[in-house]
Amino acid sequence: MTEILQFADQLIFAKKGKHLDDLQESIIKGVWDGRSYQEIADECNRSESRVRNIAAKLLQLLSEELGEDIEKTNFRSTFNRLNIFSSQNQRICHVSGSNHSFNYSPSILYNSKQDNPKISTNNNLKPTNFDFKLAPKIIKFYNRESELKTLSSWILDNNIRLISVLGLSGIGKTTLVKRWVDLNLDKFEVIIWKSLKYPKFLELLIDDLLNTCERELKATRDDKLKQLFDVFTYKKCLIILDDVHNIFTQGEFSGQYQSVYQDYQNFFKLITETEHQSHLILMSQEQCTEMECLDDELYPIKSLKLLGLEDGEILSGMGLKQDQDSGLKLIEKYQGNPMYLKDVALLIKDVFDGNVAEFLAEDSLVITKEMRSHFNQLFNRLSPVEQKIVVELSKFDQPLSRGELRQHLDFSSIDLINGLQSLQQRYLVSKIKDPILFNLSLLFQEYLRTIEKNSINS
Ligand SMILES: Nc1ncnc2c1ncn2[C@@H]1O[C@H](COP(=O)(O)OP(=O)(O)O)[C@@H](O)[C@H]1O
Ligand SMILES: [Mg+2]
Repeated sequence: MTEILQFADQLIFAKKGKHLDDLQESIIKGVWDGRSYQEIADECNRSESRVRNIAAKLLQLLSEELGEDIEKTNFRSTFNRLNIFSSQNQRICHVSGSNHSFNYSPSILYNSKQDNPKISTNNNLKPTNFDFKLAPKIIKFYNRESELKTLSSWILDNNIRLISVLGLSGIGKTTLVKRWVDLNLDKFEVIIWKSLKYPKFLELLIDDLLNTCERELKATRDDKLKQLFDVFTYKKCLIILDDVHNIFTQGEFSGQYQSVYQDYQNFFKLITETEHQSHLILMSQEQCTEMECLDDELYPIKSLKLLGLEDGEILSGMGLKQDQDSGLKLIEKYQGNPMYLKDVALLIKDVFDGNVAEFLAEDSLVITKEMRSHFNQLFNRLSPVEQKIVVELSKFDQPLSRGELRQHLDFSSIDLINGLQSLQQRYLVSKIKDPILFNLSLLFQEYLRTIEKNSINS
């Protein structure tokens, strides 16, 4: 009990600059003991509505800080699950649940009133700023140990400022990054997770970031940008932008900024070219120039291209009847893409009563309707040149060389070269060496063949 009171008191002090008052303390004790608001109100000689009101604010504060929905009914069980202990200036809560665990260390305290955070006093302290509202909760996480290590080495050991995690949709970008963040919460003073699924103007994003850092916004865009880079310099921030491909143009080569989002290019460059101690992680299905760097000694940029999972573990818990062999075959067929595997597992359960071997005996590559809708979206993002290249590649059972493609397609050499590069930057086509051949993703090929068949039949 004392620890919960201390924890809440530190939190309120950090947020509001005031310690818990008697009423707040009685409310926390009462909620802990499972008493009704009416009982707590009677005991403190206050109205029930006032007690309810204050309790709601306290619960909200605690929920925000711990990233968990804390309510009156789960108050005690949640805190029992969280192992809270305090040392001078650091609290760590270890959340041990089935698959979800994270470290939490909110008490690196700052003086928010100062414009220059270098000059800080001990008054009016603020805790770490987290904004995780749009980040998924990871319940199950398999494999990807080496990818987690790579991210740690780039971000924590080598101070890489711009990291891109790239790959086809469903391959596990969001899951991997969230897992890494969960494991490294205590390494940053500010962590902000934003999705660009519905992209916004850079200026609005900057406003959002500054608001989370509780800065008063300056008037002009340039001043706000400067303000943000001041924060990046004086605090160790981790900013995560998911679904970045949405700021690129559909129907053109990959990674071309839509004109209204062109300023992002400058923003990404500034992140790498200016001196600060923060990091930006981008996740995208398409690569753009700013994500790739030929000379990483010159600029602190790295990109991690995610391939499919190879281990059978991903199928456990999907309720399938499988032996190791059939499980691995299924994974190989669906290129280890966890999203496709989830889709196909549902289908196997519905139609084959979960029997993987029976499904594999069908011997055809089944494209589920969810996959088809993903591929439709992907196909629509391609430029006309790329669409023609993939349709051509899909007609053959083997990879083709550039020369062979040129024979079949009436393109200029430059269009073909750009098209092939762009398709690789979308992870739809891969290159095989000696001799150089271009290979289309098998599932995408199957999808193209089925739409081709359908268009002939209709
Ligand atoms: N390493 C993993 N372990 C378990 N499930 C995973 C893993 N990676 C991805 N998934 C699951 O696959 C699906 C797609 O993953 P997601 O991270 O959203 O892909 P992306 O962001 O690349 O589109 C999600 O349902 C996620 O839970
Ligand atoms: Mg994602």
